[in-house]
Amino acid sequence: MNKKFSKYLELFDVSYHYQTKLENVEIFKNLNLSIYPGEMVALLGPSGSGKSTLLNCIGLLDKFVSGDYRILNKEYSLLSESEITNIRLNDIGFIFQNHRLFPEFSALENIIIPSLIKKIPFDQAKKKALQILTYLNLDHRLNHRPAKLSGGESQRVAIGRALSNNPKFILADEPTGNLDKENTLLIFNILKKITSETEKSCIIATHNNFIAEKMDRILLIENRNIKILK
Ligand SMILES: Nc1ncnc2c1ncn2[C@@H]1O[C@H](COP(=O)(O)OP(=O)(O)OP(=O)(O)O)[C@@H](O)[C@H]1O
Ligand SMILES: [Mg+2]
Repeated sequence: MNKKFSKYLELFDVSYHYQTKLENVEIFKNLNLSIYPGEMVALLGPSGSGKSTLLNCIGLLDKFVSGDYRILNKEYSLLSESEITNIRLNDIGFIFQNHRLFPEFSALENIIIPSLIKKIPFDQAKKKALQILTYLNLDHRLNHRPAKLSGGESQRVAIGRALSNNPKFILADEPTGNLDKENTLLIFNILKKITSETEKSCIIATHNNFIAEKMDRILLIENRNIKILK
Protein backbone atom coordinates (compact mmCIF):
# COMPACT_ATOMS: atom_id res chain seq x y z
CA MET A 1 0.00 0.00 0.00
CA ASN A 2 1.41 3.39 -0.89
CA LYS A 3 1.35 5.40 2.31
CA LYS A 4 1.35 8.69 0.49
CA PHE A 5 -1.90 8.01 -1.34
CA SER A 6 -3.88 5.93 1.13
CA LYS A 7 -5.60 7.31 4.18
CA TYR A 8 -7.24 5.26 6.89
CA LEU A 9 -9.26 8.12 8.31
CA GLU A 10 -10.30 11.48 6.98
CA LEU A 11 -12.27 14.08 8.90
CA PHE A 12 -13.68 17.04 6.98
CA ASP A 13 -15.05 19.89 9.06
CA VAL A 14 -16.44 17.53 11.70
CA SER A 15 -18.11 18.96 14.79
CA TYR A 16 -19.55 17.55 17.97
CA HIS A 17 -21.74 18.92 20.75
CA TYR A 18 -23.61 17.37 23.62
CA GLN A 19 -27.18 18.50 23.96
CA THR A 20 -28.32 18.66 27.57
CA LYS A 21 -31.68 19.94 28.83
CA LEU A 22 -30.09 23.24 29.79
CA GLU A 23 -27.46 23.86 27.17
CA ASN A 24 -25.65 22.90 24.05
CA VAL A 25 -22.11 21.86 25.06
CA GLU A 26 -19.85 22.39 22.07
CA ILE A 27 -16.82 20.07 22.21
CA PHE A 28 -15.06 20.63 18.89
CA LYS A 29 -15.85 22.45 15.70
CA ASN A 30 -14.78 22.05 12.06
CA LEU A 31 -11.93 19.64 12.66
CA ASN A 32 -9.95 18.45 9.66
CA LEU A 33 -7.58 15.54 9.94
CA SER A 34 -6.15 12.60 7.99
CA ILE A 35 -4.54 9.50 9.46
CA TYR A 36 -2.28 7.33 7.31
CA PRO A 37 -1.43 3.61 7.59
CA GLY A 38 1.32 2.77 10.05
CA GLU A 39 1.23 6.10 11.87
CA MET A 40 1.44 6.49 15.60
CA VAL A 41 -0.38 9.63 16.63
CA ALA A 42 -0.62 11.23 20.07
CA LEU A 43 -3.82 13.05 20.99
CA LEU A 44 -3.16 15.60 23.70
CA GLY A 45 -5.48 18.08 25.37
CA PRO A 46 -6.57 19.18 28.80
CA SER A 47 -9.10 17.13 30.73
CA GLY A 48 -12.53 17.76 29.22
CA SER A 49 -11.16 18.97 25.87
CA GLY A 50 -12.82 16.11 23.97
CA LYS A 51 -10.14 13.43 23.46
CA SER A 52 -12.43 10.54 24.43
CA THR A 53 -15.32 12.05 22.48
CA LEU A 54 -13.15 12.28 19.36
CA LEU A 55 -11.86 8.70 19.73
CA ASN A 56 -15.40 7.43 20.27
CA CYS A 57 -16.56 9.13 17.06
CA ILE A 58 -13.56 7.91 15.08
CA GLY A 59 -14.11 4.40 16.49
CA LEU A 60 -17.82 4.40 15.58
CA LEU A 61 -18.99 4.18 19.19
CA ASP A 62 -20.55 7.62 18.72
CA LYS A 63 -21.03 9.85 15.69
CA PHE A 64 -20.03 13.34 14.65
CA VAL A 65 -22.90 15.81 14.71
CA SER A 66 -21.87 17.37 11.41
CA GLY A 67 -19.14 17.21 8.77
CA ASP A 68 -17.92 14.33 6.63
CA TYR A 69 -16.07 11.30 7.89
CA ARG A 70 -14.34 8.76 5.65
CA ILE A 71 -13.16 5.58 7.29
CA LEU A 72 -11.06 3.11 5.27
CA ASN A 73 -12.13 4.96 2.14
CA LYS A 74 -15.82 4.61 2.91
CA GLU A 75 -18.14 7.53 3.47
CA TYR A 76 -19.58 7.11 6.97
CA SER A 77 -22.94 8.67 6.06
CA LEU A 78 -23.47 6.00 3.40
CA LEU A 79 -22.77 3.03 5.68
CA SER A 80 -25.61 0.78 6.85
CA GLU A 81 -25.85 -0.31 10.50
CA SER A 82 -24.47 -3.74 9.60
CA GLU A 83 -21.53 -2.22 7.71
CA ILE A 84 -20.76 -0.05 10.75
CA THR A 85 -20.87 -3.13 13.00
CA ASN A 86 -18.55 -4.99 10.62
CA ILE A 87 -15.98 -2.20 10.61
CA ARG A 88 -16.14 -2.06 14.41
CA LEU A 89 -15.63 -5.82 14.68
CA ASN A 90 -12.98 -6.23 11.99
CA ASP A 91 -11.01 -3.06 11.61
CA ILE A 92 -10.93 -1.22 14.94
CA GLY A 93 -9.19 -2.23 18.13
CA PHE A 94 -10.26 -0.12 21.11
CA ILE A 95 -8.24 0.13 24.32
CA PHE A 96 -9.97 1.88 27.19
CA GLN A 97 -8.38 3.81 30.03
CA ASN A 98 -9.31 1.36 32.77
CA HIS A 99 -8.89 -1.71 30.50
CA ARG A 100 -12.57 -2.76 30.90
CA LEU A 101 -11.73 -6.45 30.81
CA PHE A 102 -14.50 -8.92 31.58
CA PRO A 103 -13.86 -9.58 35.29
CA GLU A 104 -15.27 -13.10 35.38
CA PHE A 105 -13.10 -14.35 32.52
CA SER A 106 -9.39 -15.25 32.41
CA ALA A 107 -6.80 -13.32 30.40
CA LEU A 108 -7.00 -15.99 27.69
CA GLU A 109 -10.80 -15.93 27.59
CA ASN A 110 -10.86 -12.13 27.43
CA ILE A 111 -8.86 -12.34 24.21
CA ILE A 112 -10.85 -15.26 22.77
CA ILE A 113 -14.26 -13.60 23.24
CA PRO A 114 -14.07 -11.04 20.35
CA SER A 115 -13.18 -13.88 17.95
CA LEU A 116 -16.14 -15.94 19.15
CA ILE A 117 -18.40 -12.92 18.54
CA LYS A 118 -17.06 -12.99 14.99
CA LYS A 119 -18.04 -16.71 14.84
CA ILE A 120 -14.44 -17.88 14.51
CA PRO A 121 -14.24 -21.55 15.67
CA PHE A 122 -13.12 -21.92 19.30
CA ASP A 123 -9.88 -23.86 18.60
CA GLN A 124 -8.75 -21.29 16.05
CA ALA A 125 -9.66 -18.41 18.40
CA LYS A 126 -7.76 -20.04 21.25
CA LYS A 127 -4.65 -20.62 19.12
CA LYS A 128 -4.65 -16.97 18.05
CA ALA A 129 -5.20 -15.75 21.65
CA LEU A 130 -2.26 -17.88 22.83
CA GLN A 131 -0.04 -16.39 20.15
CA ILE A 132 -1.06 -12.88 21.17
CA LEU A 133 -0.46 -13.51 24.86
CA THR A 134 2.96 -14.96 24.07
CA TYR A 135 3.73 -11.89 21.93
CA LEU A 136 2.79 -9.74 24.93
CA ASN A 137 4.93 -11.85 27.32
CA LEU A 138 1.88 -12.93 29.23
CA ASP A 139 1.94 -16.65 28.54
CA HIS A 140 2.49 -17.27 32.28
CA ARG A 141 -0.76 -15.43 33.12
CA LEU A 142 -3.22 -17.19 30.80
CA ASN A 143 -5.65 -18.33 33.45
CA HIS A 144 -5.54 -15.30 35.72
CA ARG A 145 -8.69 -13.23 35.98
CA PRO A 146 -8.28 -9.41 35.80
CA ALA A 147 -8.46 -9.08 39.60
CA LYS A 148 -5.37 -11.28 39.84
CA LEU A 149 -3.38 -9.28 37.28
CA SER A 150 -1.34 -6.15 37.91
CA GLY A 151 -2.41 -2.86 36.27
CA GLY A 152 0.27 -3.18 33.59
CA GLU A 153 -0.62 -6.82 32.91
CA SER A 154 -4.34 -5.97 32.66
CA GLN A 155 -3.55 -3.24 30.19
CA ARG A 156 -1.45 -5.68 28.14
CA VAL A 157 -4.40 -8.10 28.07
CA ALA A 158 -6.57 -5.17 26.91
CA ILE A 159 -4.05 -4.59 24.09
CA GLY A 160 -4.28 -8.30 23.29
CA ARG A 161 -8.04 -8.08 23.12
CA ALA A 162 -7.79 -5.06 20.79
CA LEU A 163 -5.36 -7.02 18.58
CA SER A 164 -7.46 -10.18 18.45
CA ASN A 165 -9.38 -9.07 15.34
CA ASN A 166 -6.17 -7.95 13.61
CA PRO A 167 -7.57 -4.41 13.24
CA LYS A 168 -6.42 -1.79 10.74
CA PHE A 169 -6.17 0.74 13.51
CA ILE A 170 -5.93 0.90 17.26
CA LEU A 171 -7.61 3.61 19.29
CA ALA A 172 -6.25 3.87 22.79
CA ASP A 173 -7.87 6.15 25.34
CA GLU A 174 -5.21 6.93 27.95
CA PRO A 175 -3.89 3.36 27.95
CA THR A 176 -1.19 4.25 30.48
CA GLY A 177 -3.27 6.59 32.64
CA ASN A 178 -2.99 4.50 35.80
CA LEU A 179 0.46 3.03 35.28
CA ASP A 180 3.90 3.82 36.67
CA LYS A 181 6.73 5.06 34.45
CA GLU A 182 8.14 1.60 33.76
CA ASN A 183 4.80 0.10 32.69
CA THR A 184 3.92 3.24 30.73
CA LEU A 185 7.07 2.78 28.67
CA LEU A 186 6.42 -0.94 28.28
CA ILE A 187 2.89 -0.38 26.96
CA PHE A 188 4.11 2.39 24.67
CA ASN A 189 6.89 0.18 23.29
CA ILE A 190 4.42 -2.65 22.62
CA LEU A 191 2.11 -0.30 20.71
CA LYS A 192 5.09 1.13 18.83
CA LYS A 193 6.28 -2.37 17.88
CA ILE A 194 2.81 -3.30 16.65
CA THR A 195 2.49 -0.18 14.50
CA SER A 196 5.99 -0.41 13.07
CA GLU A 197 5.70 -4.13 12.26
CA THR A 198 2.33 -3.80 10.56
CA GLU A 199 0.37 -1.20 8.59
CA LYS A 200 -1.80 -0.55 11.63
CA SER A 201 -2.28 3.04 12.72
CA CYS A 202 -2.51 3.92 16.34
CA ILE A 203 -4.11 6.99 17.92
CA ILE A 204 -3.35 7.37 21.59
CA ALA A 205 -5.07 9.90 23.84
CA THR A 206 -2.66 10.75 26.59
CA HIS A 207 -1.69 13.32 29.20
CA ASN A 208 1.88 12.08 29.04
CA ASN A 209 4.08 14.48 27.04
CA PHE A 210 7.07 12.19 27.41
CA ILE A 211 5.45 9.37 25.42
CA ALA A 212 3.68 11.81 23.06
CA GLU A 213 7.11 13.10 21.99
CA LYS A 214 8.10 9.59 20.92
CA MET A 215 5.22 9.29 18.43
CA ASP A 216 5.18 10.19 14.72
CA ARG A 217 2.69 13.02 15.12
CA ILE A 218 1.21 15.02 17.97
CA LEU A 219 -2.26 16.54 17.85
CA LEU A 220 -3.49 18.92 20.51
CA ILE A 221 -7.18 19.60 21.09
CA GLU A 222 -7.45 23.18 22.27
CA ASN A 223 -10.25 25.72 22.13
CA ARG A 224 -12.50 23.25 20.29
CA ASN A 225 -9.99 22.82 17.50
CA ILE A 226 -7.02 20.61 16.64
CA LYS A 227 -3.50 21.97 16.47
CA ILE A 228 -0.93 19.81 14.74
CA LEU A 229 2.19 20.14 16.91
CA LYS A 230 4.26 17.58 14.99
N1 LIG B 1 -23.20 12.98 27.99
C1 LIG B 1 -22.64 14.20 28.10
N2 LIG B 1 -23.40 15.32 28.17
C2 LIG B 1 -22.86 16.55 28.27
N3 LIG B 1 -21.53 16.77 28.29
C3 LIG B 1 -20.71 15.71 28.24
C4 LIG B 1 -21.21 14.37 28.15
N4 LIG B 1 -20.16 13.51 28.09
C5 LIG B 1 -19.06 14.31 28.16
N5 LIG B 1 -19.38 15.60 28.25
C6 LIG B 1 -18.47 16.75 28.30
O1 LIG B 1 -17.71 16.76 27.12
C7 LIG B 1 -16.40 17.28 27.38
C8 LIG B 1 -15.37 16.40 26.71
O2 LIG B 1 -15.33 15.15 27.39
P1 LIG B 1 -14.25 14.05 27.05
O3 LIG B 1 -14.54 12.90 27.93
O4 LIG B 1 -14.26 13.80 25.58
O5 LIG B 1 -12.90 14.81 27.45
P2 LIG B 1 -11.42 14.25 27.57
O6 LIG B 1 -10.53 15.19 26.82
O7 LIG B 1 -11.40 12.81 27.17
O8 LIG B 1 -11.10 14.40 29.12
P3 LIG B 1 -10.17 13.50 30.10
O9 LIG B 1 -8.75 13.88 29.77
O10 LIG B 1 -10.56 13.94 31.47
O11 LIG B 1 -10.46 12.05 29.83
C9 LIG B 1 -16.29 17.39 28.89
O12 LIG B 1 -16.38 18.73 29.24
C10 LIG B 1 -17.45 16.60 29.42
O13 LIG B 1 -17.94 17.16 30.60
MG1 LIG C 1 -11.01 11.04 28.22
